Amino acid sequence: LLVIGLSLVFGVMAVIPIGGADMPVVISLLNSYSGLAACAAGFAVDNNILIVAGSLVGSAGIILTQIMCKAMNRSLSNVLFSGFGSGKTETTKVEGEIKPISVEDAFYVLEAASNVAIVPGYGMAVAQAQHVVKELTEMMEKNGAEVNFGIHPVAGRMPGHMNVLLAEADVPYDQLLEMDEINPRMETVDVAIVIGANDVVNPAAREIESSPIYGMPVINVDNARTVFVLKRSMASGFAGIENPLFYKENTRMLFGDAKESIGGLVREFS
Ligand code: TAP
Repeated sequence: LLVIGLSLVFGVMAVIPIGGADMPVVISLLNSYSGLAACAAGFAVDNNILIVAGSLVGSAGIILTQIMCKAMNRSLSNVLFSGFGSGKTETTKVEGEIKPISVEDAFYVLEAASNVAIVPGYGMAVAQAQHVVKELTEMMEKNGAEVNFGIHPVAGRMPGHMNVLLAEADVPYDQLLEMDEINPRMETVDVAIVIGANDVVNPAAREIESSPIYGMPVINVDNARTVFVLKRSMASGFAGIENPLFYKENTRMLFGDAKESIGGLVREFS
């Protein structure tokens, strides 16, 4: 009972200082621990299947943790022991003006675009918009545009979240570009459509040193000629911080549920 109590306290104390954008790393690390625990249990009850399955989960989890750390530009010890965000609070007030756009006006811009990048995030999963996104992609391609998807490694709420959703909607795999592939092309993109993503496109990670997510690699949608951000309100994302992208000169906010907004664009195209 004492050991159970101590491990509970240890578990809570170990993860409590880790917050904001580091959460994905912790999730995959805890996943790995669960495999190691199963493996240890396998030795205790002398069960080979448990030992093998536990080792597989443990090693897969630790590999994923490493990949996540690399994607976040941080070392594992830094994630675990630095108390991420503890001393850092947002001090910069974002200045600028929000410029909303209607579905009709967004359609006219998209109709004229020849290179489009779609950056999905957690909101696409909430809205279950992946199928209408695929429809819109096909219509823009029929209209002569090149369409690619920019996938951030921690977009959504679980590793590979966006890949799974887009695969479900039959989006061809070669259209999905990783962050390192899409970022250098961003200057040539006419319209970047951000669908329910927030933290993974936050330029504060590059520009504002006092930001809790400073240093995290993000998809640089603000380098595209025009950015459409599809979300319901001005609410923040998982990390709970302001996003200067919404106030940039080339950004237009298309407010509303992502599925409805994209559905509206599909109707305009058809
Ligand atoms: P977030 O930063 O969480 O932003 C999601 C946005 O979607 C919100 O700003 C929300 O704004 C919008 N949204 C929600 N429902 C919507 C709807 N129905 N239609 C349109 N928009 C909607 O998402 P992200 O950019 O994908 O970033 C992921 C975050 O989660 C990162 O901070 C990451 O560290 C963290 N995280 C990731 C994982 C993994 S493994 N991927 C695990 C845990 C945590 P509105 O409310 O205004 O609509």
